[in-house]
Amino acid sequence: YLDSIIGAKPLIGGLEPKIGDKFIKIISIDGFPMESSPNILNNLNLMDFEYRFSNRFIYLDQSEALSLLDKERRKWNQQTTSLWEQLFNIQTNKIDKHATEMVEQINSATADQKSNIVSFGYYSANIIILDEDQERLHQKVNIVIQNIESLGFGARVETFNALEAWLGTLPSHSIENLRKQMISTLNLAHFIPTSNIWTGDRYCPSDKFPIKSPPLLHTVSDGHVPFRLNLHVGDVGHTLIFGPTGAGKSTLIALLVAQFHRYRNAKIFAFDKGNSLFALTKATGGKHYEILSDSQELSFAPLANLKTTSDRVWAEDWIEMICELQGQKVMPEQKRKIREALHTHIETNSKTLTEFIAQIQDADISEALSFYSSKGSIDMLDGDIDNITFATLSTFELHELMQLGDKVVIPILLYLFHKIEQSLDGSPSAIFIDEAWVVLGHPVFRDKIKEWLKVLRKYNCAVILSTQSLSDATNSGILDVLQESCPTKIFLPNSKAFQKGTDNTILGPYDFYRAFGLNDQEIEIIYSAIPKREYYYSSPNGTRKFNLVFDEFTLAFCGASSIEEVTHIKKLILEDEQSWISKWIQYRTN
Ligand SMILES: Nc1ncnc2c1ncn2[C@@H]1O[C@H](COP(=O)(O)OP(=O)(O)O)[C@@H](O)[C@H]1O
Ligand SMILES: [Mg+2]
Repeated sequence: YLDSIIGAKPLIGGLEPKIGDKFIKIISIDGFPMESSPNILNNLNLMDFEYRFSNRFIYLDQSEALSLLDKERRKWNQQTTSLWEQLFNIQTNKIDKHATEMVEQINSATADQKSNIVSFGYYSANIIILDEDQERLHQKVNIVIQNIESLGFGARVETFNALEAWLGTLPSHSIENLRKQMISTLNLAHFIPTSNIWTGDRYCPSDKFPIKSPPLLHTVSDGHVPFRLNLHVGDVGHTLIFGPTGAGKSTLIALLVAQFHRYRNAKIFAFDKGNSLFALTKATGGKHYEILSDSQELSFAPLANLKTTSDRVWAEDWIEMICELQGQKVMPEQKRKIREALHTHIETNSKTLTEFIAQIQDADISEALSFYSSKGSIDMLDGDIDNITFATLSTFELHELMQLGDKVVIPILLYLFHKIEQSLDGSPSAIFIDEAWVVLGHPVFRDKIKEWLKVLRKYNCAVILSTQSLSDATNSGILDVLQESCPTKIFLPNSKAFQKGTDNTILGPYDFYRAFGLNDQEIEIIYSAIPKREYYYSSPNGTRKFNLVFDEFTLAFCGASSIEEVTHIKKLILEDEQSWISKWIQYRTN
């Protein structure tokens, strides 16, 4: 281990010491403000270059400290009145206020030391910067000096004392560097860097991810400090994204969706509103479904693959649910008939809803279900095979579907949700729901999402919801669940952050932030953050404002959601499915 003690590089002393091929500059802190507060030198954390901050404290024992304090006190005491007055012992009213104050301070320091509240010692604080380039070194030195002086401290670039000062910063070198000041341990506690900037976890913290999985996203925060964004807190990855319309929620979601691809065997499901994930889904080879739009012929076969008992129980519930949507209350007797018909349906290897309707021995149920058969109003659920399959990323565009009534929307989405649940196999998964208030408005889906937030953690699946303000109807009961189950929240800049709700029907952003435990200071950060650049992350692990500056390339795939953009991409894909990506990039970057 000798190599950690014996230097391996030449050290050159003098006014401009050098180690190896790097010049050394030492800046010592040699003046202190009148008062200190915890972490007073925190701004040094924000400098975006490498430096070493050495704090040396040589403890004094009590009697030594008291005698030094006494010496100091006598020195200042003499200065309270002028020499003239002292010599001739005359009294005037001219008293040096500064000196008197110093004496008072030393008196109280002496009392503190006597009662062992604090102890004293010699403090030397140095900032050491190394650089091969003198010019660059000089610039860094200036930044450090500005920084230290702006905090009310004095700074000095060491010249004759440079080598001594540098040696004094090495462990166990207490003799070199005579520049030291007597301070109390209380001041010391305020000066030393007790907190560092939190840069986020190096690895995804979930133990359900492969070990040493990278964080979801590398971002930058103030002072060019990196911030590693992980949505997971332990193994819970549920996240809430909150911000006003146009703040960049969909763009952020698209970026997170893109980033989630980094995990092997990832399964990503996204419910979109307004095609903001269209470009990304198409570009990554994902599946994009516009349910019940004219452009895609989709079919579901909810009754085709009922293998396990839980499949069967699910199918029973689902059939009852759609009967009730049709206004047909299901009686116990009818429940029995449904169960029996399902039994025969499975035995006879039947697949479609029409086949099931032929089995059921109940005219009312048969009538209610026929709405969904090939002869009814919508036949999407009457397939004998699902032609919806999943890829790493499967996106479902809900905008058009959600315009339709519950009778249509609920059976389709509940089956889709069931299919998604079935496909979760423990590999890293995420379900993104953009504009979640649209689905949260339906009591049935609200319950489903509540359930997901509770149970999907077990399946290694994170649920990420984005929303703008919630109306009171949507709010009922869900706010508590979101608050409890989503440990991570990302807030987007909001110039109306302090706006309270109106006449109790809509929660204002302010009410929402307060409900999520933010204080006024944090709301102020959200209020004054720069739109489409700064984001505020909050989780039990910590809070951080981070920056995302998208380049043109990222924006072309994560931020292309206007009708014109989507139409243009669709046109390019229609022309040539292979080359559309390069044409789209060309179009966007020109
Ligand atoms: N960080 C960003 N940098 C640059 N442009 C952005 C950023 N975030 C969003 N945008 C742009 O702002 C617009 C609105 O964003 P969007 O995500 O649709 O907002 P929201 O979903 O909150 O209504 C989009 O055109 C998008 O390209
Ligand atoms: Mg959006």
